[in-house]
Amino acid sequence: MGLEEPAANKTQILFTQRRERVHHTKMMGARVGGVTSTAAADLGRRRGEYGIDAPYVPLWMGVGAVFAFAVFFIGSALSIPLLAATAPNLGLALAASVADYLYASRYGKFAAWRDLLLSLGLRGDERVLDMGCGRGAVLLMAARLLPRGRAEGIDLWKTSDQSGNALEVTKRNAELEGVADRVDLRTGDMRALPFKDESFDVVLSSLAIHNIADAAGRAKAIDEGVRVLRHGGRFLIADINATREYETRLRERGMVDVERRSLGPRMWFGGPWVAASLVRARKPSI
Ligand SMILES: C[S@@+](CC[C@H](N)C(=O)[O-])C[C@H]1O[C@@H](n2cnc3c(N)ncnc32)[C@H](O)[C@@H]1O
Repeated sequence: MGLEEPAANKTQILFTQRRERVHHTKMMGARVGGVTSTAAADLGRRRGEYGIDAPYVPLWMGVGAVFAFAVFFIGSALSIPLLAATAPNLGLALAASVADYLYASRYGKFAAWRDLLLSLGLRGDERVLDMGCGRGAVLLMAARLLPRGRAEGIDLWKTSDQSGNALEVTKRNAELEGVADRVDLRTGDMRALPFKDESFDVVLSSLAIHNIADAAGRAKAIDEGVRVLRHGGRFLIADINATREYETRLRERGMVDVERRSLGPRMWFGGPWVAASLVRARKPSI
């Protein structure tokens, strides 16, 4: 009969075994899809600075909240019960919307896209395009999954669509994320992509296509994304408006496995009334 190990030793052994497992996983990297679990976990860590989407929206909501609270104080001081009763509710609702918006833009978007990118099960040698990449929130996350591939971003760098938006800022973010060697950036319009047909394995777009004011322009952007996608490649769009339009257009262009679904509260920009949806599709193999 073997002697029972002293409890302290058992705990120590278990602890050592666990530490070794963690070390082994770090060194060898358990695989999640085509990437190591360490690389996958690391995606959540950000080193760049990515600004705020459509910064005037939360700014104006914030101004509205301040105004509503001012009305409340004036209503109370002047004993106007209607103002004193309704204004604080409006102020609180607007303040909550600002907080929700900032959460979605600074954190929720990253978490949602991290899951979407991992769901692609990339091998790591693909060529990925981000249409309207802005400061690189999604583009650079994708690049981290492409140690042997390329991540290409195209944008018009509009500061009304993202604060501090500029080619130089995105370049700097690529350096901070340690992926500058595999990222290419272009200034251009997604309605006329400067790429050959069937040159990408994956085409992405995050909160960008709706910025094109007219439906014909948005359809052109979708057509361009389909054109540059190779057969068997995948197209993923997250957006707050016009997603039914994208879904219809993708079907009309012969894309298959077309799916549209909500991206949930992580991508509510101010509340459920401005919720982002995902549209994903695949270009059929020949
Ligand atoms: C809200 S930002 C999103 C940026 C980035 N995709 C992200 O999720 O952080 C929208 C981006 O679309 C870009 N954009 C708007 N219209 C465009 C067009 N026609 N062609 C290329 N980029 C465009 C803007 O300059 C901006 O960078």
